[in-house]
Amino acid sequence: MNSEIAAVGEDIQKIRDLDKDHVWHPFLNHNTLDENPLGVIVKADGCTVTDGEGREYLDAMAGLWCVNIGYGRKEVAEAVYRQLLELPYYPLSQINLPAARLADQLGDILPGDLDRIWFVNSGSEAVDTAIKIARAWGRTQGGRYKIIARYQGYHGGTVGGASLTGQTARRAPFEPLLPGVVHLQAPYFYRSGCSSEFDLAERLAEDLDAVIRYQGADTVAAFIAEPIIGGGGVIPPPADYLKKMREVCTRYGVLMIIDEVITGFGRTGELFASDLYGVKPDVMTMAKGLSSGYLPIGATAVTDEVFQVLNAEGEAGFQQINTYGGHPASCAAANKNLEILLEENLTQNARDVGKGLGEALAHLKDIPCVGDVRGVGLIWGVELIEENGDPLPTEGTAKVLSYVNEEGVLIGKNAGIADGPSNTLTISPPLILTEEQGATIVSAIDTGLKKFQAEG
Ligand SMILES: Cc1ncc(COP(=O)(O)O)c(C=O)c1O
Repeated sequence: MNSEIAAVGEDIQKIRDLDKDHVWHPFLNHNTLDENPLGVIVKADGCTVTDGEGREYLDAMAGLWCVNIGYGRKEVAEAVYRQLLELPYYPLSQINLPAARLADQLGDILPGDLDRIWFVNSGSEAVDTAIKIARAWGRTQGGRYKIIARYQGYHGGTVGGASLTGQTARRAPFEPLLPGVVHLQAPYFYRSGCSSEFDLAERLAEDLDAVIRYQGADTVAAFIAEPIIGGGGVIPPPADYLKKMREVCTRYGVLMIIDEVITGFGRTGELFASDLYGVKPDVMTMAKGLSSGYLPIGATAVTDEVFQVLNAEGEAGFQQINTYGGHPASCAAANKNLEILLEENLTQNARDVGKGLGEALAHLKDIPCVGDVRGVGLIWGVELIEENGDPLPTEGTAKVLSYVNEEGVLIGKNAGIADGPSNTLTISPPLILTEEQGATIVSAIDTGLKKFQAEG
């Protein structure tokens, strides 16, 4: 077998055998593998991935919410190849051109006053870096160290990221996690009992205010939020929510960290969701769409104000190093990715195609097991319910998912709400999606749901 690339038609069982004894897969009890084998994905192009049996799927999750420019972009591969020949590696203890170019470009396109970039290799590391920046900054503000996060939020798999995450299954096995983390309710209108989104935003901002006062404002370093909760069930907030939360943070001198790991780089129909909701964060985390997954890279951006505090007279600088932070090849991939994203105006495409997709998905609400359809741009969730309105159990959601897959479309499902079941289908395709492909996604979900519904 070719050791680098398995071609379609390769002996798939051989690949499965290779994998079986040593690869440890996420969120999986490996004893179920024989009964429910994983797919072997061997190639991809545009929005389509192909498995080892030659079956093609429309990838309506862009891998893991990340392949924004779509698969198979030769320009990215060539840019990386050229960079590897020129300078494959050097740490950021010195300067390299692709990292300098990328930081400069990010400084231009990031919302508000974010213009200083710390490079890492993933979203989780970007979040851990944000925690450390908030704490290092907080030390200079009389010892602020606490971080306020939200239930249902996801911020990564590292110990720091898991500490901020508000999903029981992703936290409980690893507790005790970081001290000084407090969680608030998420802006989850569907089950909030509020009469309007405006009321919910008001209530949650008042709650943040009360929690900061209760904790002692002089102990709170930062509030962190995904602008739209992604893996926790695609939860777009009320229109004013983030602005109101920003006001409270400003009132008490608390940093606002916006985690744009999923929402950044066009997904919501704006380049950043902070632009969509009109907020200026003090710190922003990003990854995924930064390179569209072609190579691993993440970043944490801060305002000049925060940067200057950590570079004041007598400060020794930020005490962290990542061997691969600002890796020249990853930065070259990200630079080419951004060039494509901007030149092809994929943010606008996400807005246009997303509008039609959202309208079509809304019709699914006619199916009894669909409780809510929510999203914006090219990030959507379809929440499934039982007859009495309770969340559909995870097994039901998994069945729907497999029926949709049988229709040739790959979608995802959320992590359970608090310790509840996974009951939201997630849709987050590449931003190159066409209207026809959007229609294919909706039709596959419609078929899957009706099949499930018919089984009673
Ligand atoms: C909002 C958010 N933050 C952080 C992360 C962690 O990113 P990574 O998986 O690259 O470590 C994710 C991953 O899905 C995410 O959705």
